[in-house]
Amino acid sequence: MQKLLFIVVLFTAILSAQNVYERNCVPCHKDLSTSLQQMFKKYLLVYSGEQNVKAGIIHYLQYPNRSISVMSKLFIESFGIKKKTTLSPEELNRAVDIYWEKFKVFNKLK
Ligand code: HEC
Repeated sequence: MQKLLFIVVLFTAILSAQNVYERNCVPCHKDLSTSLQQMFKKYLLVYSGEQNVKAGIIHYLQYPNRSISVMSKLFIESFGIKKKTTLSPEELNRAVDIYWEKFKVFNKLK
């Protein structure tokens, strides 16, 4: 019994060690044909600049809409428009900060 409890505690610790980006965004995106990295690049091209890119992504995640999507028509036809995020505004901000930190290096390659 104690062993089981230990395993449960350990498992919970491992899970919560993953950040909100790894926990929320990555699993749902892994089956899409366009990677999160490629989507990030599209946002950089359309919006340029940290504040604009972050604001653009946050807005889209809260109000996903065909007319403001950066994805191609073909892509949207295959995958549909995503659902509104279930994250709280704080979690969403944190997730997008992590997303930015992870891929911002492309900003310098332009
Ligand atoms: C429930 C599944 C799901 C979750 C969770 C999710 N996404 Fe998505 N995301 C999608 C799908 C499906 C698309 C493609 C359809 C679309 O663009 O609306 C997409 C599209 C995007 C796009 C392109 C938006 C555009 O302009 O079309 C970005 C950027 C993105 N996701 C980032 C994120 C980030 C960052 C998170 C975590 C905070 C996240 N996603 C969480 C399913 C998800």
